[in-house]
Amino acid sequence: MAMAFEPEHAALQGFKTIIEPFRIHSTQQIPFPTREERLEAIRKAGWNLFGLRSEDVIIDMLTDSGTGAMSARQWAGMMEGDETYAGSRSYYAFRDAVHEITGFQEVIPTHQGRAAERILFSILGGKGKVIPSNTHFDTTRANVEYSGAKAVDLVIQEGRIPSSEHPFKGNMDIAALDKCISEVGAENVPVVMLTVTNNSGGGQPVSLENIRAVRAVCDKYKVPFFLDACRFAENAWFIKMREASCAHMTPMEIANAMFAQADGCTMSAKKDGMANIGGFLAMKCPEVAARCRDLLILTEGFPTYGGLAGYDMEAIAIGLREALDPLYLCYRARSTAYLAEKATSAGVPIMKPVGGHAVYLDASALLPHIPREEFPAQALALALYVEGGVRGCEIGSLMFGDVAKMELVRLAMPRRTYTQSHLDYVGEVIERVAAKARAKELNGYRIVEQSQWLRHFTVKLEPLQAYKL
Ligand code: F0G
Repeated sequence: MAMAFEPEHAALQGFKTIIEPFRIHSTQQIPFPTREERLEAIRKAGWNLFGLRSEDVIIDMLTDSGTGAMSARQWAGMMEGDETYAGSRSYYAFRDAVHEITGFQEVIPTHQGRAAERILFSILGGKGKVIPSNTHFDTTRANVEYSGAKAVDLVIQEGRIPSSEHPFKGNMDIAALDKCISEVGAENVPVVMLTVTNNSGGGQPVSLENIRAVRAVCDKYKVPFFLDACRFAENAWFIKMREASCAHMTPMEIANAMFAQADGCTMSAKKDGMANIGGFLAMKCPEVAARCRDLLILTEGFPTYGGLAGYDMEAIAIGLREALDPLYLCYRARSTAYLAEKATSAGVPIMKPVGGHAVYLDASALLPHIPREEFPAQALALALYVEGGVRGCEIGSLMFGDVAKMELVRLAMPRRTYTQSHLDYVGEVIERVAAKARAKELNGYRIVEQSQWLRHFTVKLEPLQAYKL
């Protein structure tokens, strides 16, 4: 994939390798369980990859959430953490970083993204309400529904077709949004959400033009507009690369322009906050923010720490800015694209174009012999684990039940964690699994035990035929 460089990074021009823009400063041992040990581990875990222990896994691509490596600057910042209960200096550093990027005055720290969601939807949600989004992430959908409201996904048509090459497949279907609000009545739509990048839809970006169009619909109906901003920096990078009118802007300027359209955001700092834990809720409206703070105190903490240590807030304040470094974003997009090239050359169909934080393998195309009731994406994810110790994540009927639009396996890229040779290894594992898939050696699964909410975390499965050794 062609990748334009920033002029200030001219030193890199002429070389095709986009190297990791960091040196490794401390390392962690990778465990190497054997194939037999892996089979035993996954059997014990009820064929649920969430049930494994980290020592069972060789390359962990379950999530890019909280799994990244922090920079030396972040670690140094943590030493400056101010653990004062009320009015901590670290809160103000955190608040200023969030304000610089989002422009929002009201900044409420939370222990992670879903806490921000729960607080927001406890206030705005409720029975009879409808909350549209391009695609709600699973915790967002669960928090909306838990409040009694209905979560509606209105991504553009191309966003539902894995092979479509649309540059902004995360875009909201503007006509559908307008129709949805006019049908249910603006008074029943307390907020419109937009997930950037669209995680459940394949890590696909949303264009600035589309963000502005969502704003226009929200203005027409006088409905607030919030971003689910977890991967705002990656989204900004894709806008820079793919939206001609923004090519000259820095990622920070693009991020500013994105947030300028919204009334608020929920954020998991475990993604583009480059931190291992944390999140926030930020907004313009002081009245809604005051109600959010009331709830915050009930379960998260005092408004100047909200469930975070002072040092966490320092790490996030630094991480949010690091995530917008063009050299980092260029390397990040390139490594994801590199893994996608490996999958493609192994003959495994992927969600196109490549998203920001993950490669999504299209299981229904690879495993046409496994019907969706038998969870083809889970079958593929399990095979990647058994064959090579690579842990990915099913995003299909197991996660979403009947509302699943696609059967995908997400191989998420922890930030600044794995090198190119780790990705070469993952590529080989994909090749091996693809050969087994084509030989119809992979089988479906059935559920033996499940919970009511977010069942994929704890579900227990059983292979329909014994896993071939
Ligand atoms: N919104 C999006 C788009 C997400 O991807 C996530 C988390 C959340 C909200 C919730 O944030 O985990 O801090 O509570 N996504 C992780 C993932 C879990 O693996 O994609 P959280």
